[in-house]
This record gives sequence, C-alpha cells and structure tokens, in this order.
Amino acid sequence: MATDQTRRIFADALTRLNSADASALLRYHFRVAIPTPDEFDSLTESTPLVAALRDRIAREGPITFRDFMEAALYDPRHGYYATQDASTSRAWDYVTSPEVHPIFGTLVAKQIIELWRALGSPARFDVVEPGAGRGLLARDILRRAAREPGFADAVRYHIVERFGRLQRLQEASLIEAEIEPARVTWHDALPRMGDGCVVSNELFDSFPVHRVANHNGRLRELYVDLHGGRFVDRLGPPSTDELRAYFDQLGLLPGDGCIAEVNLAAAAWMQEAAASVGRGYVLTFDYGYEAPELYAPWRRDGTLLCFYRQSASSDPYQRVGRQDITSSVDFTTLRRAGEEAGMRTAGYTDQADFLTRLGIAEGVATIARERPAEMEEYFARRDVVLALIDPARLGRIRVLLQAKDAPSGPFTGFVGE
Ligand SMILES: C[S@@+](CC[C@H](N)C(=O)[O-])C[C@H]1O[C@@H](n2cnc3c(N)ncnc32)[C@H](O)[C@@H]1O
Repeated sequence: MATDQTRRIFADALTRLNSADASALLRYHFRVAIPTPDEFDSLTESTPLVAALRDRIAREGPITFRDFMEAALYDPRHGYYATQDASTSRAWDYVTSPEVHPIFGTLVAKQIIELWRALGSPARFDVVEPGAGRGLLARDILRRAAREPGFADAVRYHIVERFGRLQRLQEASLIEAEIEPARVTWHDALPRMGDGCVVSNELFDSFPVHRVANHNGRLRELYVDLHGGRFVDRLGPPSTDELRAYFDQLGLLPGDGCIAEVNLAAAAWMQEAAASVGRGYVLTFDYGYEAPELYAPWRRDGTLLCFYRQSASSDPYQRVGRQDITSSVDFTTLRRAGEEAGMRTAGYTDQADFLTRLGIAEGVATIARERPAEMEEYFARRDVVLALIDPARLGRIRVLLQAKDAPSGPFTGFVGE
C-alpha cells in the first residue's frame, strides 16, 4: 500500500502534472479491459499448438493449468514468447515500464549505481537481466552507465533469454543505441556472478502457475480438460504436495469457494538467483501483493489475466499461443524464498514511490523551468511520468530489493525524505 508520504508526493505531482488527455493516453497505452469479440475461441481455432494440446489431453487425460500455460507461452516452436519478433512487436499486447519512456531505465540505473557504490565501487560489476523483452531496459541502463565515471568501465551486462527471436530484437535495440557490443553477453540460464545485481521487470508474473480452489475447506486443483472440442476447467486433487505445503507455510488458504494461482516456480527461481550472485543484490519489479491480500476471500476468481492487442480478458483458452497470460506475484513467498537463500530484504515499496524518490518529477519540472520553449517535450514527459507512477496502473508495481553479503542501505529508491 502506498504510504501517506507517497500519497502526498503523488497528489503534489498530479497538481503539477494533471492533464485532460491523460486518461485517453492511459486508455491507449496501458492494460485496460476493453471487451473484444471472441474471434478465436478454442473451439474454432485450429493452430498446431491447440492441436498438440488437444492430442495430449485426449491421450493423457486432463493436464494441470501450469502445463497448459507453459505450452501456451513457452512452447519452443509455437508458444507466445517463442514466436515474438519485430513484426509481432509492432502490435505488442502489453506495455511495460521500459517501453513507456527511457526515464524508467535511467532511474533504475541511478539506483544500481548507488548499489555499486555500496559495495565499494568494485572494478567489475555484473548486471544480469532475465527476460529482457525488447532490450529497452538494458539499453537505458547502459546509456546512463556510460555517463558515470568508474561505473562505465566496471559494468558488464548479461541478458538471460531462451528465445532466439527475442535475442535478435534485443541486439537490434542495443545496436541502434550504439551500445558497445562487448558490454553485453547472452545466456540460456542465470550465469554465476561476482559482485553485481540481478534486475528483472515483469518476469515472475509470466511464470506458469497452478490454479487451485478452496472447495469447502479442501484444497483442489484446476486441470484443463476437453469438452465438445473446447478447453474447460476440471477440478481434481492437487497434482503435487508442494501446493499444500505452500499454503501451510503461509498459514492460510484462499477464501472458501475462491480460485487462486500458485506460482511455485517463482520461489525456486528466487533461490537460484540468490545462489548466482556472489556479493550484491536482486532488484525485482512486478505486479503483486502480500499473501493475505493476494488470497483474500473477496478475490473470488484469482488474478489470472490475458492480454491481446492491449485488451485484457480472463479467458486463457482463447487465442492459445497468441495472447499473453499473467498472474499477480505473492511477494510474501518471494521475500521468504530470498531470505531462506541467505538474502536480506533491503527495500520494499511500489514503483510510484521508487521513481518519485529517485527524482522522476524533478526531470519534468526542470524542463519547464530551464527550457520553457520546449513545451512539447514538457507535455510528453509529464504524461509519461503520470503513467509510470499512477497507483492504478504501472505505479502499483511492487519493487523489492534483496541483498546478499552486501550493505542493506538506506538506498534512495526506498527511503523517505
Ligand atoms: C512480460 S515479459 C517482460 C519483458 C521485459 N522485462 C519488459 O519489461 O518489457 C516476460 C519475459 O520473461 C521471459 N521469461 C520467462 N521466464 C523466464 C526465465 N526463467 N528466464 C528468463 N526469461 C524468462 C519471457 O520469455 C518474457 O520475455
């Protein structure tokens, strides 16, 4: 939840930045649910991926939603992320903070430079970014790094990317920005690092999740079955004991009659990230909540959301392999996973707070004050700032900083003035 101070800062920013066209901009650019006709439901759609999933279910019986989502997003030939390239990116289905404006990456770089200093300004500093999308965060961090004496020579950037098409998009963004190629290395999995920082934006919310339901106080799992050629939900016993253990550790269950998601991969990945860092930090930006809020009894249908051409729906059985599927992250479990792997929580806030504390509003005010002639730039920036810190949109993204064998602050993005 935003602190009183955030609310004050935000209200202040709004008075300075408010504009009549902001809502139109938000409607156009961000995740807004605008109903679209069901052009491609699972009955009429016949793609190789849908056919393969139907065959699998016919052969093996109902599969977990986790397996369905894994195939829909990550099937190596037909999955949503495996098939993204420059042509699909023109009509990208969702917009993330690095894509809104370079100011996001510039401020993240400012925070990372402070982390580097906290470690004693080591001569080499690895920044590792898993799931780098089009490479825009990498581009903006490296651009800002180039202006920072000492850090410019120390930084090595590593992108963890499984898909060749996305890697080529990332390379293109970096080449266009004239980033020195030797600064960036690509990996299939998290590399071993020395001193450094793992930074991710909207990574965990794209991990395949189990869907569960509390059915009269008993934990059940939702499987994907076929009915008349369509994919449908089917309740069954939990596919793994890890699901019960997950809720036992939290000491809660989703509300009676509620459906919820369980992202077992997120905690496992956080532990791997902790193991990969020699000395340093893991900095995470993602949509999510604390467990009691995520699994609150009023959240009847969970948080699963699908995105297609910037429209949201809650039906994962449409446009299989051609729409994004996400779910909100359980930050209680994510933090605990890091702590169990030897990290300390060094900061936890929301993106509105984080960017405000790092000075996002000042950049806009400076243009208005020092370059009054550049009104176009001023209005463009003002709208961008509004979008990145709006608590109803990107501003509500949670920001978590975890430290391993490294000072835990205070750091500018996480401390009050
Ligand atoms: C929602 S996109 C976010 C892209 C980018 N970070 C941005 O902010 O625009 C999530 C990305 O994470 C990638 N991803 C998912 N699991 C991954 C993993 N285990 N390792 C590396 N990347 C992963 C997906 O392939 C996808 O490209």
